[in-house]
Amino acid sequence: MIRVGFLYSRLRVEEKLLLKEFEARPEIEVVRINDGKQYFDISKLPADVDVVLERSISNSRGLYVSRIFESHGIPVLNPSAVAEKCGDKYITSQILEQKNIPTPRVLMAFDLDAALSATDAMGYPCVLKPVVGSWGRLLARVESHEMAEAVIEHKASLGVSHKVFYVQEYINKPGRDIRAFVIGEEPIAAIYRSSENWITNTARGGVATNCPLTPELDEICRQTARAMGGGLLAIDLFEAKEGFTVNEVNHTMEFRNSIETTGVDIPARMVDFVIKEARK
Ligand SMILES: Nc1ncnc2c1ncn2[C@@H]1O[C@H](COP(=O)(O)OP(=O)(O)O)[C@@H](O)[C@H]1O
Ligand SMILES: [Mg+2]
Repeated sequence: MIRVGFLYSRLRVEEKLLLKEFEARPEIEVVRINDGKQYFDISKLPADVDVVLERSISNSRGLYVSRIFESHGIPVLNPSAVAEKCGDKYITSQILEQKNIPTPRVLMAFDLDAALSATDAMGYPCVLKPVVGSWGRLLARVESHEMAEAVIEHKASLGVSHKVFYVQEYINKPGRDIRAFVIGEEPIAAIYRSSENWITNTARGGVATNCPLTPELDEICRQTARAMGGGLLAIDLFEAKEGFTVNEVNHTMEFRNSIETTGVDIPARMVDFVIKEARK
């Protein structure tokens, strides 16, 4: 019997699919841990489990609770060391850069004037993003120096985290991006996300269709997964003129729109991986 700690904030469609899959496995007993409904004594193991699957909606909650389990010797998927890298777009970009994996250029700045110099240096359009965030929220495609001034001023008024200015090269992609699902280091499926909007997240109306895992796509996804430490990952890529370029990596991905689209039973593959890791 394997006891799986299921760490979550809310039961989204994905969590329900995963729980259903766990319930279908006779060798699994699931212990649900809601990250918001209890406190955690850091000197104690929060629950008697063999492995934890982290599905928190909040990046920071997921990280804290994962570290508590890990400090008591319980493995977490994804490990906090992987979640840390994926959860912060700067860290992801820095790793990709260091490993020579194609990725859009990034300039970092920490003051309004420096940020404006950075957007001028990047050229327009360019993209300003919060380093921690998802679902395409609070992203800005900045079209001009004047617009950069306004966006930077607005961001600075939003609070501390918005004074970290992550300025990214804008990639003129063909009305879509690619999301590839990786388990361990193996790409198992991918979708195109198409939209009229430059932001193609399915949470923002992007439409999913199957994307073939060509050898090139497979290879860049493997390299990226390896660089991040492997696990249950979703890699966002753009088709640039020169080939694929990796935008970001997600560590608690949504996949509801990708199961029928790709014909791959993503939750079943995730559960298989959790069991495999628990048996190690
Ligand atoms: N540099 C960029 N060039 C072109 N499109 C971008 C760029 N950055 C983001 N996008 C679009 O916005 C979407 C959301 O950006 P992303 O960096 O993945 O943030 P989030 O974590 O909110 O998903 C991407 O899927 C893509 O469609
Ligand atoms: Mg994304």
